[in-house]
Amino acid sequence: MATKKPAKKKPAKQTKAKATEKTATVFIMGKAHKVPADATIMGAIEYAGYQIKRGAGCREGFCGACATVYRLPGDYKIYTGLACTTLVEEGMWLSQLPAIPDQKPIYNLNKLEPNVSTFQKLFPELFRCVACNTCTKACPQDLEVMDYIQAAIRGDIEKVMDLSFDCLSCGLCAIRCPAEIVQYNVGLLAKRLYGKYLSKESKQLKKRIKEVKRHKYDKEYKEFKKMKKEELKKKYYERDLE
Ligand code: SF4
Ligand code: SF4
Ligand code: FES
Repeated sequence: MATKKPAKKKPAKQTKAKATEKTATVFIMGKAHKVPADATIMGAIEYAGYQIKRGAGCREGFCGACATVYRLPGDYKIYTGLACTTLVEEGMWLSQLPAIPDQKPIYNLNKLEPNVSTFQKLFPELFRCVACNTCTKACPQDLEVMDYIQAAIRGDIEKVMDLSFDCLSCGLCAIRCPAEIVQYNVGLLAKRLYGKYLSKESKQLKKRIKEVKRHKYDKEYKEFKKMKKEELKKKYYERDLE
């Protein structure tokens, strides 16, 4: 099992390939299609004439809706990736997984304790982890998934929260786990427990909430609403990150 780092996203090709345009043959759910060689998997699926009703959201690698598994010619490994950011390759055999079956434990956060017993009770299968690292290799976000599962087993909530922070809940780790753990739900619980019981008070956040209530950003917000998508995108990517 291995995961290819998603190749840099290029715009999905939606129109017919020109006669001179390079094409690749890919097998989408078992059927061969000629698609533009520089298309993303999602672009290729749509180019081939399929309509994606589930399994697409942001189309930018953020929402985790487009989990995909594929094999490459002459290679026994199964690869995993996000359809919207992974480029096709010649001979790729792929299937999108629009929903990953999982069981979400139901809990009342106000009644939980931030310790290892909570993980034991809600995710007893955690302790079946065989430390194979398959989940880490499957993760399109390059997260240390096995490490956060091991941290959950130790009850180190802050570590789980930290290591799983950029999880998209795509589910690719869960479908490969021999212990049948649903890693992203473990990460979600840790984030909730951390936020409710362990995080330090943020003075910056309090200040910002007061400013919002005093309508400090209303004018800026109105300007954002008038912007075109491209302009808004540019603003988003150029924003200051703390
Ligand atoms: S840890 Fe999150 S982002 Fe990584 S494979 Fe699992 S569900 Fe997807
Ligand atoms: S794939 Fe499952 S068993 Fe293997 S390290 Fe990850 S959580 Fe543990
Ligand atoms: S569609 Fe959102 S991550 Fe691919």
